[in-house]
Formats: sequence, structure tokens, C-alpha cells
Amino acid sequence: MDSSARPHCLAGRFIVFEGGDSTGKSTHLRLLAKRLRAERCVDLPGRPGLVVTREPGGTELGAQIRQLLLHGGQVAASAEALLYAADRAQHVAQVLRPALARGDLVISDRYLDSSIAYQAEGRGLDEGVIREVNAVATGGLEPDLTILLDISAGAATARRDRPGAARDRLESAGSAFHADVNRRYRELAAVNPERYVVISTADSKDAVHERVWAAVRPLVSVLGPATRAPGESRTEVAG
Ligand code: TYD
Repeated sequence: MDSSARPHCLAGRFIVFEGGDSTGKSTHLRLLAKRLRAERCVDLPGRPGLVVTREPGGTELGAQIRQLLLHGGQVAASAEALLYAADRAQHVAQVLRPALARGDLVISDRYLDSSIAYQAEGRGLDEGVIREVNAVATGGLEPDLTILLDISAGAATARRDRPGAARDRLESAGSAFHADVNRRYRELAAVNPERYVVISTADSKDAVHERVWAAVRPLVSVLGPATRAPGESRTEVAG
């Protein structure tokens, strides 16, 4: 991660959830935030604040870009890539860097690797160009931990096709597109083992959550054990 975002040892940590569509990312992100609070790792005196955010749409400008990307009319592949990068540039400048500089723990639903998987691999755009554009957007800011929620092709299709499910523009892109995206994510995880943890979503929600927690705990435990007032009981995390 870019050390300019980390002026001292209290500087923040940056965790990203990645994965194809319909992998349950937002559910697990919510469960993780709840767990971090229940375990008294965040949002208490002497503890980092917790910032939960997402791409696209983690800022006011980003919310408008999200609407254009997912629910607008036709978008050329190159325009799509640039809009995701613009959303990211605003997100990094307005949310991520300030939070990390404060020493907060930041959890983001998607970041740069989404553009590698979806725009470069899925849409077939030049990966080098996508990386260059995004280097402008991120200024080199990288996650400390990327959690890839990995779903089988069959399960992903079944989730996207479930009755009553409303599909946005990207979700309507077809099975081959989504298979390419999932394959590229696995490759990214394989070449970046120092920051990636791959968790299969084939198991129960609780089992997946425990794996997410096991991946995150080393990152927050450097802050020392959470203190509890005498007689205070532990808050349980509900699903
Ligand atoms: P998201 O809200 O995470 O959707 P889901 O919960 O269905 O996974 O992301 C919105 C869509 O935007 C999703 O289809 C992936 C796509 N996307 C890209 O194509 N490139 C990007 O850089 C990002 C951040 C998202």
C-alpha cells in the first residue's frame, strides 16, 4: 500500500471485498462490520473508526456515476471503463485517503481489481491501459487485504436468474462474460497471494463469515485485545 496514506503506525487498514455478481459480497461486508463492532475492534475510544463504503457509488458524485453505469442507456466499453475510473478517483480522494490518514479501518465493496476483471477481461479492453487509467485514479493506493468471494459458474447463474431478481446492465451481460470475470479474479488472487484470501461461497453463510473473520482478525489484532468493562457481556453477531 502507498505509504503516503500511512504517516505513522496508527494509520488505517484497507480491506476490499471482490467477486463476481451475486456472490453475497454485501451480506458478508455487513456481517463483518457487525462483527468488528461486536468484538470491540472499532468505533470506541482508542480504537480506529470504521468506514464501510463501495464502488461504484461511495461518494455523491459516484452515486450519479453508478446510476449512469448500471441503470442508464447504452454505454460503450471504453466509456464504461473511464466512468468506473472516475468514480474511483473521487472515492480515493474524498473517502479512502482521508479515512486511512485518520487511522480508520476501511472496508470497500469492490475496488481496482473489479476493473481488471470486468473491463479488461470481461469487456476485452487492454489491461495495460485500464491499469494506467486507474493509476491516475488511485495514485497507487492498494488494499492491505482483498477477500475474493468465489462462486461456481452454476451457482452464479442460478442466483442471477432467480425469479423476481431485477438485473442491472452488468448483470445482464451473459454467462460467458461472468465466467471470464470469475476466472480473472482467481488469476489475480493467484498472482497476489500476499494480499488475497479466496473464500468459496459454496458453504453456509455462517461458515463463510467465519472464514472472512479469520482473514481479517490478524489485521485488527495488532491493535491489542479489546477491553471489556467488568461484568459486560459480549454482543453476539446476528445474521
Ligand atoms: P455491485 O454493486 O458490487 O454489484 P453486485 O452486488 O451485483 O456485485 O457492483 C455493480 C456492478 O459494477 C457489478 O456488476 C460490477 C460492476 N463493476 C465493474 O464492472 N467495474 C468496476 O470497476 C466496478 C467497481 C464494478
